[in-house]
Amino acid sequence: MINTNIIKVMVVDDEDFDVSRVKNTVNLSSTKIQIESVLSNGRAALEELQQKPDNYDVIILDYQISGGLRGEELIRKIKELDPLVQIIVITKMTTNTTDFDFANNLLKAGAFWYCTKYPGNIEEYIYQPTDFILSIVNAYEKKKLEKQKLKSDKRLLQSIEGILQSKEIIGESKPMLHLREAIEKYAKSEANIIISGASGTGKELVAWNIHLKSRRKYEKFVPINCGSIPHELVESELFGYEKGAFTGANTTKLGLFEVANNGTVFLDEVSELSLPAQVKLLRVLQEGEIEKIGRTGSISVNVRIISATNKNLAAEVNDGRFREDLFYRLNVIPIDVVPLRQRGNDIIVLFKHFLEYFSDDMGIVPPGIDPKAQEILMNYKWPGNVRELRNVAQRLVLNCTDHISVKDVSDPMILKSSGISKDAAFEEIYAGHALTLHEVERAFRLKYFKYIRNISSSDANAAEKLGIAPSNFYRMCKELGLK
Ligand SMILES: Nc1ncnc2c1ncn2[C@@H]1O[C@H](COP(=O)(O)OP(=O)(O)OP(=O)(O)O)[C@@H](O)[C@H]1O
Ligand SMILES: [Mg+2]
Repeated sequence: MINTNIIKVMVVDDEDFDVSRVKNTVNLSSTKIQIESVLSNGRAALEELQQKPDNYDVIILDYQISGGLRGEELIRKIKELDPLVQIIVITKMTTNTTDFDFANNLLKAGAFWYCTKYPGNIEEYIYQPTDFILSIVNAYEKKKLEKQKLKSDKRLLQSIEGILQSKEIIGESKPMLHLREAIEKYAKSEANIIISGASGTGKELVAWNIHLKSRRKYEKFVPINCGSIPHELVESELFGYEKGAFTGANTTKLGLFEVANNGTVFLDEVSELSLPAQVKLLRVLQEGEIEKIGRTGSISVNVRIISATNKNLAAEVNDGRFREDLFYRLNVIPIDVVPLRQRGNDIIVLFKHFLEYFSDDMGIVPPGIDPKAQEILMNYKWPGNVRELRNVAQRLVLNCTDHISVKDVSDPMILKSSGISKDAAFEEIYAGHALTLHEVERAFRLKYFKYIRNISSSDANAAEKLGIAPSNFYRMCKELGLK
């Protein structure tokens, strides 16, 4: 049976006497440790590693070998080739036995352990055998741990990349390219960020992207909707409480800031925080500490704060609803997400993306879009931004048309104002199909005449308001069917 747990060793030493002493020592544990090769210089060792990657667990390396490549330089080269292999350095007794810098430099270069050989009159062993063997076993254990860590780091990275894919920010318009650049740049920093933009523009998506590209990516991203927590609960939600802090506190509760420790807190709708909660938050930012209800002494936390708002926070500060000092602490970097209607062709790009997404979900082929229907989508003002667009695409896919026509998008159940600007005055007249200019003018006159008549004391007064002669007013009213 092959023992897969056997520790494979390479010896790099050019003196036969020492090689045989190493063999004698290691062979005491030959069921566990096997010397696979003996090489007499650094270059040969590197070549062997290159030819048999991932073959060796431990290298026993003589510090004083012949050839140009030796010592720390060789250790570094070995680690570059195979970061997991562990190196045990053996050196002559006469060298540097009390020189700690010497030992330190070896470790810094990447050695696992270092020992001084027995003097030459001890012919059997290179070093105290049990200690030497134990060090080889420990080196092997370290390699196994490092291998496991590498594996789980890789797995984590893969899952982070998976999440990033699902959080992809779609769009090729200029504002979106700038946004992506800003995300790349600011993700690397630790500074707090405020993301502003209208509802549904993608603020939370931006916050996720910053977190997943930051050094904190392996830690938690904790979103808190400041608008949805009742004022009296804000403190306990954010900072938690100790068991018995008040009646009803039967267990200790972790606050969201503790949960997010070392990660990112996303303060959504930050303008909705009450003034007392703002004071507490300011303290966290100033001191890096939270005070839990019912606990003496504070707890240190390390969080990055990304906030989002669809209000003008500077105006909130001016009006005294938001603390200025807190505003400056949160707003180190401002990021603005523009409304969808300012992103040009991204409307179609996003629309096709969501059609594909929801069609995949249902296992159907994504529908095509009529050019005229595209035009309506492009001209629509999208007050609900990307969220609204996403919902529209979903509804159309659910309706299962294989081709999206003007009729589909003109349905008031699909687009709230059937493709033209969401201007209430037009919306009323439009009623599903475009009117000719003549028809629109007539409809407008009718409405306006009615309105002016209502606010006037007499027909003469109405005519005066409209700047026309009473006789013309009378004729026009008749034409419009008002008389
Ligand atoms: N550029 C984009 N690419 C792909 N999906 C997007 C994009 N922008 C927004 N979305 C999607 O649109 C929806 C709304 O986005 P998000 O929740 O981030 O907006 P928001 O600005 O936080 O909205 P609100 O102000 O209402 O909280 C989400 O499903 C999000 O994934
Ligand atoms: Mg949001």
